[in-house]
Amino acid sequence: MKGKEWYQTSEVAEEYDDKRFSRGGRLIDRREKQAVLDALSPLEDKRVLEIACGTGRFTVMLAERGADITGLDISAAMLSQGRAKARQLGVDDRVEFIRGDAARLPFPDDHFDAVFAMRFFHLIPDPERFLAEMRRVTSGEIVFDTFNDRSTRTVYNWLLPMGSRLYSDRDVHDLVERAGLDLVRAEHDFLLPYGFYRAVPGSIAGALYGLEERLEGTAASDRFASVSYWTTRVR
Ligand SMILES: C[S@@+](CC[C@H](N)C(=O)[O-])C[C@H]1O[C@@H](n2cnc3c(N)ncnc32)[C@H](O)[C@@H]1O
Repeated sequence: MKGKEWYQTSEVAEEYDDKRFSRGGRLIDRREKQAVLDALSPLEDKRVLEIACGTGRFTVMLAERGADITGLDISAAMLSQGRAKARQLGVDDRVEFIRGDAARLPFPDDHFDAVFAMRFFHLIPDPERFLAEMRRVTSGEIVFDTFNDRSTRTVYNWLLPMGSRLYSDRDVHDLVERAGLDLVRAEHDFLLPYGFYRAVPGSIAGALYGLEERLEGTAASDRFASVSYWTTRVR
């Protein structure tokens, strides 16, 4: 089953956050949110589209920080989690959640100041086409992450039921070039597999990540990182 279908069931949507972002997984959530904030700030009144927003982890965070944010996802079940989260946090009047396919975005050209997608590129069959569609609807930044082909993820990637595509550094540079984008920043994160972090309590996850941070910026750390966050801008 592929990523487009996998997230459509209520069971998957209801357990999505707990399964990935409890215990040591909270650290992964924090790191990803920081990467999005670093890439998109300042946010006040910025018109932002989040592709594949899922349960709205980033959507509500950006609404809280004053962005004019739209979250789009193909799964009604995931969107319903996002809407509940927005209500709980009292930002539901500042977020628009839309059901739609990222392959055909229901927005005019250059409609947004920035577009981003997290944990999405590993699910898509044709990244060039999706990136072109993201490019069409913005005149500003395009931010996304990829899981990497030289990482520890290769050990279990083939087991994942929703399918998962891994990227090389070259793949991403070529994609960005062909889409007519400039690469503004690339950040590489997490040497140990996510599953490892999720399995341990937060304090141990913090200690493990502290060790990883000591390697930060070295060739080994960049080369074997599990995930990369890419910030690009329309040329
Ligand atoms: C791994 S989840 C990531 C959700 C969120 N971005 C996050 O990081 O928590 C992937 C999401 O992509 C959505 N998705 C998959 N294919 C899609 C498509 N063609 N158009 C829009 N959303 C899609 C799924 O429904 C799911 O919510």
